[in-house]
Amino acid sequence: MSHLVIDNVSKSFGELPVLRGCSLSVEKGSVLTLLGPSGCGKTTLLRTIAGFITPDAGRIVVQGNDISDMPPNRREVGYVFQNYALFPHLTIAANVAYGLKVRRTSRAEVARRVEDALRLVDLSTFADRYPAQLSGGQQQRVAIARSLVLEPSVLLLDEPFNALDARLRLTMQIELRKLIQRVGITSIFVTHDQMEAMTLSDTVAVMHKGVVEQFGSPLDIYDRPRTAYVANFIGRANVIPGEVANGHFDDPARIATQAPAGPAVLVVRPENVTVEPATAGDAAPGWPGTVTFTTALGPTVEYEIDCGWPEPLRAIAPRSPGRPQAGPGDRVVARIADPAAAVVLRRQDGAHVH
Ligand SMILES: Nc1ncnc2c1ncn2[C@@H]1O[C@H](COP(=O)(O)OP(=O)(O)OP(=O)(O)O)[C@@H](O)[C@H]1O
Ligand SMILES: [Mg+2]
Repeated sequence: MSHLVIDNVSKSFGELPVLRGCSLSVEKGSVLTLLGPSGCGKTTLLRTIAGFITPDAGRIVVQGNDISDMPPNRREVGYVFQNYALFPHLTIAANVAYGLKVRRTSRAEVARRVEDALRLVDLSTFADRYPAQLSGGQQQRVAIARSLVLEPSVLLLDEPFNALDARLRLTMQIELRKLIQRVGITSIFVTHDQMEAMTLSDTVAVMHKGVVEQFGSPLDIYDRPRTAYVANFIGRANVIPGEVANGHFDDPARIATQAPAGPAVLVVRPENVTVEPATAGDAAPGWPGTVTFTTALGPTVEYEIDCGWPEPLRAIAPRSPGRPQAGPGDRVVARIADPAAAVVLRRQDGAHVH
């Protein structure tokens, strides 16, 4: 049985539907990420799980118990806010102790649990400092310790790394992942950063306008996006419009597909596109085009190729120092390296083709 089940939850604010039939489940000790653009309903779903918002329909079930009507303070759910919300006039130890004191825990037990929580986030030596004397990453860890000290059964984290610079963000992602594994706490984490989602999660829910558009492991979603929207939200994708007829997409290599006949799109990751100079007599099927832009990133080169479509075709290839590469203006032929890794989707309203 899943530790936490979100069962068909809907919520409107006035006329505005913000969550539309969201269903998800999280296994004990695993990390689920809610991933989606601003305004898609991530915070609303998190606040519904915490009990700050009552859903219009649907249920929240923890360990088999429907907690939909339970007040927030009885839910054993920890909530880490985006801006840490530490008390500036209290020491780190006092910040972490705060929730326990509100619960009238004995002084000795408060001391012991605060010490444990600070050790867990590697801040034992900072107990007597004040928040302003800590870096952003350290403050973030205090905010996490303050939730963990209450021993919640579920930890909710709403974009906890927003205020951090890129390098610290990456360090904190890995630290948080290890911490969650060590404590074994079921966690739901909100972000709009897909790399962060891939780093941190066991499962990802890609949200779009209040709907869970796809739910699965990060790599499963990356390899098998169900819609063009998802393909572009997790990683980058070329979305090539075309038709399916007789079990084939009408690309030059005629990729086989089980998609039904009719308008379709081919979703191809840039790393699955090869780029070769156009040569006379090259009869192998491919898309002819002209390179319009290149970016050398050290280990790889990214190409933008004009194939006569509204959007340029994007390719990423390994870069070998000293080996000449195609540049702007060069005529090239682009091909799909691994047809099995390309995905054919029906072109329909739900596919969000742009
Ligand atoms: N209390 C409220 N009353 C009315 N509308 C609200 C309320 N809370 C959120 N909304 C609206 O619901 C929608 C979803 O908001 P939500 O905060 O869940 O988005 P989000 O995915 O967390 O976005 P972000 O990435 O910007 O934090 C938005 O259109 C927002 O304006
Ligand atoms: Mg939000």
